[in-house]
Amino acid sequence: MTAQAGSPSVDEAPPELQKRFEDTIARDQRIEPRDWMPDGYRKTLVRQVAQHAHSEIIGMQPEGEWITRAPSLRRKAILFAKVQDEAGHGLYLYSAAETLGVDRADLTERLLEGRQKYSSIFNYPTRNFADVGVIGWFVDGAAICNQVPLCRSSYGPYARAMVRICKEESFHQRQGYELLMTMMRGTDAQRAMVQDAVDRWWWPSLMMFGPPDDDSPNSARSMAWKIKRHSNDELRQRFVDMTVPQAEKLGVTLPDPDLRWNEDRGRYDFGTPDWSELKRVITGDGPCNEERMARRRAAHEEGAWVREAAAAHAAKQAARTQNGAVA
Ligand SMILES: [Fe+2]
Ligand SMILES: [Fe+2]
Repeated sequence: MTAQAGSPSVDEAPPELQKRFEDTIARDQRIEPRDWMPDGYRKTLVRQVAQHAHSEIIGMQPEGEWITRAPSLRRKAILFAKVQDEAGHGLYLYSAAETLGVDRADLTERLLEGRQKYSSIFNYPTRNFADVGVIGWFVDGAAICNQVPLCRSSYGPYARAMVRICKEESFHQRQGYELLMTMMRGTDAQRAMVQDAVDRWWWPSLMMFGPPDDDSPNSARSMAWKIKRHSNDELRQRFVDMTVPQAEKLGVTLPDPDLRWNEDRGRYDFGTPDWSELKRVITGDGPCNEERMARRRAAHEEGAWVREAAAAHAAKQAARTQNGAVA
């Protein structure tokens, strides 16, 4: 990325390149890795895609804790597959980030040093098996609201990664809802577990969409570049509108006394999340921040031998190919 002496830096790119970038965005076409793009666009994407990738990987932890404690072999197999899907999403997204000229190892380093973030939602604990269902229903549901519009994001590799990821998230949401439906048809104790999990996860799930629009300085620029298609508040509203009828069908109460249908707007009104809580969790003071990062750091250190072995194998293969080519 460093400009050679005498050659223009990226910000001083010839006007025709800047124009081509702007036209591509205006025509709703995709920017591809080979295309010129403004530095700010690249940096915004690296931040967003890396944060998304980190969230998928850290997001394996709260549910992963329940794999050994799943109540049946069937539930264990489902949960295993779901958590594994999230690992796949993370790898996909790190690859998408690498098309922007960054290195996955470097992004991991930035996460471990606390210079990059992951979604606030994964800093909350999972207390009982109903949490697995509620995470699928709320958290994967919120992910879908966020990510379906990203399938039309202006950056090609990110948009294309989202298509497959969204299909899997939709499957995750349904498995969560199906688990809760089964528990609601069970005993009083099981129904109480579901309601308890709903009470704990509802507000943190609404916070997943980020701060309100008037307190979200980067949003407008991301929307102008069509990296992001809808504002935080709009996405939050969509999530509420989608989820309330599902809660009614399930037979649980969402813990918001201000939640009611607004005939004029044709949407649900709802209360205000505790934004000071979101700030606390984002800045590292959530219930599980330390635990999540400690686990991630340990996994990274314990995995060093795997990375070394893979690199050694790749080097051997490359040498063999080269020798073959020479012969
Ligand atoms: Fe995911
Ligand atoms: Fe998911």
